[in-house]
Amino acid sequence: MISNLAYAGFVSPNAEAWRSFGPEILGAEVVDGSNEIEEAPVRLRIDDRAWRIAIHHGEVDDVAYFGWEVIDGELTALVARIRAFGCEVHEDDAELAAERQVGRICWFEDPFGFRHELVDGIAEGDDFTPGRDLVGSFVTGEQGLGHVVLMVPDADSGIRFATEILGMRQSDTITTGPMKVNFFHCAGHNARHHTLAMLAVPGMAGLFHLMLEVTDIDDVGTALDLVKKQNMLLPMDLGRHPNDLMTSFYVRGPSGFDIEYGTGGRVVDDETWEVGSYDRVSLWGHRAPDDGPPPPGIMRRVG
Ligand SMILES: [Fe+2]
Repeated sequence: MISNLAYAGFVSPNAEAWRSFGPEILGAEVVDGSNEIEEAPVRLRIDDRAWRIAIHHGEVDDVAYFGWEVIDGELTALVARIRAFGCEVHEDDAELAAERQVGRICWFEDPFGFRHELVDGIAEGDDFTPGRDLVGSFVTGEQGLGHVVLMVPDADSGIRFATEILGMRQSDTITTGPMKVNFFHCAGHNARHHTLAMLAVPGMAGLFHLMLEVTDIDDVGTALDLVKKQNMLLPMDLGRHPNDLMTSFYVRGPSGFDIEYGTGGRVVDDETWEVGSYDRVSLWGHRAPDDGPPPPGIMRRVG
């Protein structure tokens, strides 16, 4: 069983831009030495973990991998379940484990083309030093790095993947017109309202955003001021979602996908949780630019 999203990796021609975007806008810390080896990824941390986000140098913006922390002792059983589902699993690559700074790693590609790495024994780093002054801190711990929202070609396959392969439970849905988003949490191990959400777009796969949560609304407001001062693209201005109750804005980062930067996310108690349904994306705000919401920058045709 998976307990949380541990890390995320991307490929981008603009990897170097994260050395300023990461600390100056997000308040993340650039990992020391991540520029010492040519072609080494730019790595960012947001807590005491050795690293949380890696941006590898490459020609086209894309997702490289998602890293999922597996509950101690359950990796072997999880690998067996993924194989039974029909995915080929690459097991115990020691060189890769050293690179990711984990004890054990297995990886597979999902039916939509995303690479998922299943890890345990994750390394801690030194004390976290934010890239700019923060009033509070990032919400991580048992809730992990944050959440990701993907575009997948088919809603039913997405639900099966999240629940049967990753072992997540549905939190709720938001339906607006023809668009339906399914939200999933890591049941019993992580109270974050959703760690993964998926929106079905026939024939397409992609990444909408990676969400990072902070404890203090002032840190969201300061980040928003900085984004506006630099005239960065704001696919959604400040607003609040009805399901996870996150107060957040979305900024288009240097690599095509958006970072949702928010605070006040709801936590779920599995004992009492009932799957809800909502008919709007926001309680208030989340205003798109005047010329309409920009399409996701990471998107490809599948199937
Ligand atoms: Fe989100």
